[in-house]
Amino acid sequence: MDLEFAVNGERFKVDSIDPSTTVLDFLRFNTPFKSVKLGCGEGGCGACLVVLSRYDPELDQVKECSINSCLTLLCSVNGCSITTSEGLGNKKKGFHPIHKRFAGFHASQCGFCTPGMCISLYSALSNSSKEFTVSEAEKSVSGNLCRCTGYRPIVDACKSFASDVDIEDLGFNSFWKKGESKEVMLKNLPPYNPKEHLVTFPEFLKKKKKKKKLHNGLDHSRYRWTTPCSVAELHNITQAANSLGSLKLVVGNTGTGYYQDEERFDRYIDISQIPEMSMIKKGEEGIEIGAAVTISNAIDALKKEESKSCYIFKKMAAHMEKIGNHAIRNSGSIGGNLVMAQSRKFPSDITTLLLAVDASVYMLNGGKKAEKVKVHEFLELPSMLDSKRVLLKVEIPLCTATTSTTSVDDDTELLFESYRAAPRSIGNALPYLNAAFFALVSRRQEPSRRGVTVDKCFLAFGSYGCDHSIRATEVESFLTGKSLSYSVLYEAVGLLKGIIVPGKDTPHHEYRKSLAVGYLFEFFNPLIESGHYSNSHVNDTAKSLLPFLSSSQQVLESNEYQPVGEAVIKVGAALQASGEAVFVDDIPTLPNCLHGAFVYSTECLAKIKSIRFREKNVTPSGVFALLTSKDIPKQGQNIGSKTVFGTGPLFADELTQFAGQRIALVVADTQKHADSAAKLAVVEYDTKNIEEEAILTVEDAVKRCSFFEVHPMIYPEPVGDVLKGMEEAERKIISAELRLGSQYFFYMEPQTALALPDEDDCVKVYSSSQAPEYVHSVIATCLGIQEHNVRVITRRVGGGFGGKAVKSMPVATACALGAYKLQRPVKMYMNRRTDMIMAGGRHPMKITYDVGFRSDGKVTALEFIMLIDAGLEPDISAVMPRNIMGPLRKYDWGALSFDIKVCKTNCPTRTAMRAPGEVQGSYIAESIIENVATSLQMDVDTVRKINLHSYVSLRKFYTRISGDPDEYTLPLLWDKLEISSKFKERAEMVKEFNVCNVWRKRGISRVPIVHQVLQRPTPGKVSILSDGSVVVEVGGIELGQGLWTKVQQMVAYGLGMVKCQGRSDKLLERIRVVQSDTLGMIQGGFTAGSTTSECSCEAVRLCCVILVGRLKPTMDKMMMEKPGSVTWTMLIQQAYGQSINLSASTLYTPEYASMEYLNYGVGVSEVEVDLVTGKTEILRSDIIYDCGKSLNPAVDLGQIEGAFVQGIGFFMMEEYTTDEKGLVVQQGTWDYKIPTVDTISKHFNVEIVNSGHHKDRVLSSKASGEPPMLMAASVHCATRSAIREARKQSLSWNCNDGNIDESGTDFELPVPATMPVVKSLCGLYNVERYLQGKILG
Ligand SMILES: Cc1cc2nc3c(=O)[nH]c(=O)nc-3n(C[C@H](O)[C@H](O)[C@H](O)COP(=O)(O)OP(=O)(O)OC[C@H]3O[C@@H](n4cnc5c(N)ncnc54)[C@H](O)[C@@H]3O)c2cc1C
Ligand code: FES
Ligand code: FES
Repeated sequence: MDLEFAVNGERFKVDSIDPSTTVLDFLRFNTPFKSVKLGCGEGGCGACLVVLSRYDPELDQVKECSINSCLTLLCSVNGCSITTSEGLGNKKKGFHPIHKRFAGFHASQCGFCTPGMCISLYSALSNSSKEFTVSEAEKSVSGNLCRCTGYRPIVDACKSFASDVDIEDLGFNSFWKKGESKEVMLKNLPPYNPKEHLVTFPEFLKKKKKKKKLHNGLDHSRYRWTTPCSVAELHNITQAANSLGSLKLVVGNTGTGYYQDEERFDRYIDISQIPEMSMIKKGEEGIEIGAAVTISNAIDALKKEESKSCYIFKKMAAHMEKIGNHAIRNSGSIGGNLVMAQSRKFPSDITTLLLAVDASVYMLNGGKKAEKVKVHEFLELPSMLDSKRVLLKVEIPLCTATTSTTSVDDDTELLFESYRAAPRSIGNALPYLNAAFFALVSRRQEPSRRGVTVDKCFLAFGSYGCDHSIRATEVESFLTGKSLSYSVLYEAVGLLKGIIVPGKDTPHHEYRKSLAVGYLFEFFNPLIESGHYSNSHVNDTAKSLLPFLSSSQQVLESNEYQPVGEAVIKVGAALQASGEAVFVDDIPTLPNCLHGAFVYSTECLAKIKSIRFREKNVTPSGVFALLTSKDIPKQGQNIGSKTVFGTGPLFADELTQFAGQRIALVVADTQKHADSAAKLAVVEYDTKNIEEEAILTVEDAVKRCSFFEVHPMIYPEPVGDVLKGMEEAERKIISAELRLGSQYFFYMEPQTALALPDEDDCVKVYSSSQAPEYVHSVIATCLGIQEHNVRVITRRVGGGFGGKAVKSMPVATACALGAYKLQRPVKMYMNRRTDMIMAGGRHPMKITYDVGFRSDGKVTALEFIMLIDAGLEPDISAVMPRNIMGPLRKYDWGALSFDIKVCKTNCPTRTAMRAPGEVQGSYIAESIIENVATSLQMDVDTVRKINLHSYVSLRKFYTRISGDPDEYTLPLLWDKLEISSKFKERAEMVKEFNVCNVWRKRGISRVPIVHQVLQRPTPGKVSILSDGSVVVEVGGIELGQGLWTKVQQMVAYGLGMVKCQGRSDKLLERIRVVQSDTLGMIQGGFTAGSTTSECSCEAVRLCCVILVGRLKPTMDKMMMEKPGSVTWTMLIQQAYGQSINLSASTLYTPEYASMEYLNYGVGVSEVEVDLVTGKTEILRSDIIYDCGKSLNPAVDLGQIEGAFVQGIGFFMMEEYTTDEKGLVVQQGTWDYKIPTVDTISKHFNVEIVNSGHHKDRVLSSKASGEPPMLMAASVHCATRSAIREARKQSLSWNCNDGNIDESGTDFELPVPATMPVVKSLCGLYNVERYLQGKILG
């Protein structure tokens, strides 16, 4: 049988194929459908989702679900139908209501995640058994990553489909205006009709399926893919394994997402069609689940179970719903999970659950007969993968699963609970530890023996860095028969700590142990304290069933400069949703295109002796060339990046100077081959004959005086007399230290470029870059050709955040070098791992400060030394002192002096990441204020307020950029937010909550921001075509920040000045902003620093002034002839006839006096910290931001929310660290956790203040891209406040564990404040201390 399937209704037949080919590989390289994006290749981001429809001819039914196309193997979709986002709807056919609503709710910024989001929503909608609910809507995208939007608008778009939604709760959108009636709102939503908008299964496939019935067997000889139909057949195949070569059993193939195996097998055995392995059956003994049953199907079955056992089954199902994401659960099988846990130490949730219910598995163990073993025995067996064993099914016994908290008899209770501490609770994250407990307890009523006795218990733990899940049998035996008391529990905890021993390379050892202890405590303690089983984590499960997000936005549209100021939908939003928007990797490649992958150094300082592939003299398949610095043309230079501060090499020469440095480029026939060959490259280093040691810390850099020079012109000025300020101080904090780490961009589209050789030594490069002008120049210098030989084109970038400015240059340059040298197109689409290793990210830093202050909290002087780790190359690091000092001066420090050193180290070169330096500077100010308040035992909000600038002190600290007095809106925002967020009342409620709750503490914090931005010269060009349509070019790049949309609005406004008949918004539709082309428009500069949109707008406005000036005489003449009836088209036709120059270009150069200005905002956040797990839940955030007169409030709102959520990532979640050699540790979605819908603020209220006229600004507007990120410090500060309460409480237990200072409040909360960090500050041993306190009475 042939491999035949449908994609978006179209038939595809594949004669033969490598069985390791994924659906994504096929779609992206063999079909025109490019909406499946490759974001990670490991199941962790959701960008590649498609809908898979299977037809069951027996039932005449079609089943649909979302799957990860990056993991699913093509052969496994034989006879199925695949639908991508453009298959739901598209430009030609008409967009699907999902696409339209995503566009209208402003839920797509860069658009790279959007097709995957749409598929997630579609799949949830189509699978919703009854009515689609708000809760389902929110969860539908819980496993998808978006780095731009902050999720709120995405969730609103999803919720708009829910039957129980209160339409008034939906956020800002383009369908209705505030205050319109519910009827109008509903009417304006793009209608959705399930019958009309669901995809249909192609008839040709149905017919084929009906003919062939169930069997999906492919022709063995052509496909190396076998699909046995029975266990007997499977047995025969495994027995013949030796003659068949290496075999791999597969169901969903999701395991490769974790292991990323390179290994190729001779034959794949698809076991998903064996009825015995795909059934779910309830027998007398228990419920049986076939090993090939998907996790989703198992969950459905467990949920539906209505027997007495349903309590436990439902709890297991609820836990399993937190595994991976929908798509992983839809294709990943129960058996696959178990085998990964058994054979490859996978940190499984399922094995922990099964251990706690004493489940068994059935295996084929070489023979024909199935063998039954308990799960704990199964886990101890030698690896399944090294043998011919097959897992057939799992059996969950009913005996343990009788009713639970309802009594077995009057005095006996059966309890079951499961736990999971993960960085994202439902957002696709492996836990630090999981646990599941089953217990049979009885209640004694006799006065002498009152209490609860444990009759039996199973206590399972897993995922803590162990070989596999385990049962804590020693603790079980200890507890069995015991009457529960504090001392019994204390002893049990002690025993448990000896059992939970994470592997030696596992991070957070003590934290994981503390989780085990905490969960055991949570399970048994309520029985001791109240005699009844009630558990806050149980309530959590109930809570998670409720809708979990709400929001409000206050946004003012202005019509003074129509259509500027209106919330116009982002250009191309629907196109992005359908996935038709073209990114660099979507550009169809020529058949002779080659692909590149970097080989990077793993040493921080070493001579490079040689570079070869693993097998000597064997070139890996598909490899064409291995390019190094020696391949750079003689006339060229080894240059890979450049800024005004210097250059960086494309490849390490003889010496590699940091781990992660580029050494070579492998060029191969496919990206897959290039990537595998790069992994097979072996670099031989000489580390012995190096004269100096590597500089790996800022302290080393100081010792060796290894600094980058910072020109005095850009080095910030001190303020006032610090000596005097210190003399005035009544109190001082001396030599306090603070360290801040790095952050990775996590743009959803990795670095990518495509270079095409052209005639006469020319090269054309498509680059996903924020700085094409510089890419252009670097390529020319590297190749040694004149700049007019190079053309760099950038249409759109799938998220940049600074990471595609300098760091995009070597990617494009390497491709250009390959293309130039090999005279073939060369493309590079970096895999996520290499991207993370090379990206560099945000600058880490260390600050040591002295601060003097009065006893009322007023600071009188601040002095500090700051050491910034810039890595090896100059990049833009010299601007860091200036950037840091901008927001740090937001308080009136009295006097301020500093010594900032930009350290040159042998670490990855750091670069600008959104609000580079500013986010750290602003946070440092907060940390200092927090410590001042702590030292004075004062309310920190009062200390903040007393140190806020007056306009007079603002002028002192910001001199010429402070603006007019009425532009200093911060005090107004501070007060306004106090009222709108009910800050004072809530602060009181937080206090009450903290008094009443032992294991949860809340904190609330208000944080102001002042963020300085700088306008830069920016070009623009507006040309009017003969039909009246307008084409616009600007220096700025569309990164998702809505630059094109604002520019389009500005051109409509500018050309509208000619005052033709008809509204200028009609003109809007006739304007197209086109890709940046470095030969078409020079001097584009960097798209960075939040001001490129406004500068591009100003540039095109100036062009429009020129054009209107040229058109005016003709217009006046025509108006005289035909008053009131001159349309735009008529005017342009006339102008063409008169040969008026209808193209104008300009380079907008901002006035020196006003090119810099300040932005203001305030954020209030309230959090709740779980003292058992260290989890921080953001209950609510309110932010207020002064946008001047927003050019487009929808776009600015998106920027504000997105930046805030990226800030949450920085402050609370994202660890981007390096090892002892300086090599990046986090290398993918498994260990780098950006926020998902379940980790953002539950209630998120945003107000954009229109602060009126600003004479020096572009139509009175102010920037929005970076400043709001700084407000996320409010979440961190609120967490600190909650921890402070936890520490005070610990002290009251009289049980200091050595981790807490005398007052309990004097501590530094590291950034990011991850769960282990928070828990360790709350007290890793707080449970033991609590129990000790109770025992001691
Ligand atoms: C992004 C992501 C997130 C995840 N998150 C979690 C999580 O939070 N918690 C959790 O517990 N799990 C998690 N998982 C693991 C997931 O549950 C497993 O990947 C999945 O269940 C494996 O099933 P599969 O059918 O895809 O297995 P496959 O990938 O097809 O197979 C996995 C391995 O098992 C072998 N195998 C499969 N079935 C059998 C059998 N019946 N007999 C013998 N050998 C067999 C295969 O040969 C292969 O070596 C996650 C996975 C991904 C990719
Ligand atoms: S690319 Fe498939 S999940 Fe990220
Ligand atoms: S819009 Fe979601 S990643 Fe850019």
